[in-house]
Amino acid sequence: MIVSSDDENLIISNQLEAKEIDFDKSYENSIRPKTFNDYIGQTELKETLSISIKSAQKREQSIDHMLFYGPPGLGKTTLAGVIANEMGVNIKITSAPALERPRDIIGILMGLKTGEILFIDEIHRLNKIAEEILYPAMEDFCIDMMTGKSQATKNLRIPVPKFTLIGATTKAGSLSGPLRDRFGIIHRLEFYSIDELMQVLKRTAKILDIKIDKNGLNAIAKRSRGTPRIANRLIKRVRDYALVRYNSDVTGQIANEALDMLKIDKVGLNSTDRNLLKLIIEKYDGGPVGIETIAAALCEDVKTIEDVCEPYLLQAGLILRTPRGRKVSPEGYRLLNFVPPALQCGLFD
Ligand code: ADE
Repeated sequence: MIVSSDDENLIISNQLEAKEIDFDKSYENSIRPKTFNDYIGQTELKETLSISIKSAQKREQSIDHMLFYGPPGLGKTTLAGVIANEMGVNIKITSAPALERPRDIIGILMGLKTGEILFIDEIHRLNKIAEEILYPAMEDFCIDMMTGKSQATKNLRIPVPKFTLIGATTKAGSLSGPLRDRFGIIHRLEFYSIDELMQVLKRTAKILDIKIDKNGLNAIAKRSRGTPRIANRLIKRVRDYALVRYNSDVTGQIANEALDMLKIDKVGLNSTDRNLLKLIIEKYDGGPVGIETIAAALCEDVKTIEDVCEPYLLQAGLILRTPRGRKVSPEGYRLLNFVPPALQCGLFD
């Protein structure tokens, strides 16, 4: 990508306002873990990353660019912060929608210091221009600029400090091939087990001074759909309920009552998830039905259905993806107390 002189002038006159968040400010006093030791789950990923970090440190070079993908709330940003902390470097956090104009990404790249980490969330949403500015920056640590007017234009390669880009996305498939190819380390984050979520919750309870017993931890973990962000949100709601209704610490029974009140069922589905299953079963004979039809019928946007509801429903085996749309699985039927179609026909009688 060649950037026009307009953008270059902006850089030279130093009028850029880089759209970045100072990681430390939002990070301090939060419940996010800062070290691999504190970061629960994603065991294999942590091991691979820790080797890459140690190798980069031994070679005294920056670590390869990394791409983390997976459903929201599994800790992609948190992990980037942990990596920065383990490497003893600063991290600049931004997200693709904030990098609308060439000067947004250029400003951030030029403002980086050697070895720093640049974290771009929702990286699949980068526009073409920003992507093309990133290519030489990732590969050769430079930005290609064009200076001068009309016939007198000249290409200029401006060096940027050696940095590591960490991209995060819920949609690895939506990343362009050339961008994906420039990441040396690509990893998927997995849903957390009940046991891992209980550990996350125990740690959070300690930090937030919430008194909760093992049954309470287990009840919340079971209904957190494999996602620490959800678990950490629910524990606060359950704490409020325990305090107001019982003036008590959190027990299993109180947690279950609170979660029932919040309409989060035994496997963590909320009313949107259940409405989605019910819609496909009742209106579309169990499917297949297209995602747009589902979203329109539920008055939700396609992105929410695809990125928030579907990943867990798929992972839990409650819906199936087919080339002709989504279908509810026999487990999905049973969960909502419907009889699966094969049984309706008497096939298994
Ligand atoms: N909070 C959110 N994600 C976490 C994780 N993976 N480990 C510990 N605490 C967390």
